[in-house]
Amino acid sequence: MAADSKLMARALERFRADKERREAEHRRQVAEIYRKVPRAEEITRILRSTFGSSVAAAFRSGPDPQPALRALKEQNLSLQRERAELLVANGYAYDALEDKPRCALCGDTGFTDAGPCRCLMAYYAQEQNKELSKLLDLGNQSFDTFDFRWYDERYWPHEGISPRENMEIIYELCANYAHNFSPKSTNLLMTGAPGLGKTFLSACIAREVSNAGFSVVYDTATHIFAQFESGKFGRENPFDEDAHTDINRYLHCDLLIMDDLGTEMATAFVTSTLYQILNQRLVAGRQTILNTNLSLEEMGRRYGAATLSRIEGEYQILTFFGEDIRRQKREQ
Ligand SMILES: Nc1ncnc2c1ncn2[C@@H]1O[C@H](COP(=O)(O)OP(=O)(O)OP(=O)(O)O)[C@@H](O)[C@H]1O
Ligand SMILES: [Mg+2]
Ligand SMILES: [Zn+2]
Repeated sequence: MAADSKLMARALERFRADKERREAEHRRQVAEIYRKVPRAEEITRILRSTFGSSVAAAFRSGPDPQPALRALKEQNLSLQRERAELLVANGYAYDALEDKPRCALCGDTGFTDAGPCRCLMAYYAQEQNKELSKLLDLGNQSFDTFDFRWYDERYWPHEGISPRENMEIIYELCANYAHNFSPKSTNLLMTGAPGLGKTFLSACIAREVSNAGFSVVYDTATHIFAQFESGKFGRENPFDEDAHTDINRYLHCDLLIMDDLGTEMATAFVTSTLYQILNQRLVAGRQTILNTNLSLEEMGRRYGAATLSRIEGEYQILTFFGEDIRRQKREQ
């Protein structure tokens, strides 16, 4: 996955700080145990030092060292048992002296041969969710809190279906999309009138895909185009020094959510930038979600045939209709 280097740096910093805290806590506990239960320390010393020389002595003892080795092993086990019992009797876990890694997959290094370990990616997801929460209401907007009651159950003749039924289909599709997100997933276009839950559902998807360990960037079209316009063109490699610039994030993240497309000023620069973003991401096999109040027809007029053709060919179109939920809430 294409991790954002700034977020990864923050994740690593917290990952290492937590690891150091755990190690310091373990050292403190070992010292406390040895202070309270001196016999435990004595056993540790015997197990560490005496046995090496005893084993050597066993081999020197005669033609058959096996009986001596067996006896040593017995003694070893009984010392370990004695120490474990002492620990438990003093209110500690039987293995309180062992320094076991918390993550067996990577031994607490944060990395496996396949790249960043799952345990490190959990830190990454937390950092990313903090970023996403600056613009989205991840706390309240989740698939669990999605409320179908805002959508009319009555049949809309022009659409051939009720807003409620339509939303049930869209909700199901978004939930599956989030749940099964992968580099093979399709792209989504959420189109429809204001106040119908497009941003809400985007937040639900963002959270779930982020928690699954993918890099997710959410931003408004206006801000995205402004960043491109201010000329901060980043380099190709997402791990470069400059990779933290917004433009690199827009181009390289696993999932880009571009909200409120069509509310920006219509300029030739916007038309060509949108084409480049969508095209580059398509070619690279990275997924994009677009939200807009524009119809497909309006998008074609505004952004041109090349962009429209890519959207029609490569995006699953979700058409929202119903009564503006913002207005419904105001009028309550
Ligand atoms: N299914 C839902 N359950 C509860 N609240 C919802 C639901 N859908 C939307 N809302 C609320 O309604 C308001 C409008 O929703 P949202 O911002 O997602 O609309 P939108 O389709 O993105 O509108 P716009 O096109 O204007 O951006 C928000 O306050 C949102 O929290
Ligand atoms: Mg919105
Ligand atoms: Zn790990």
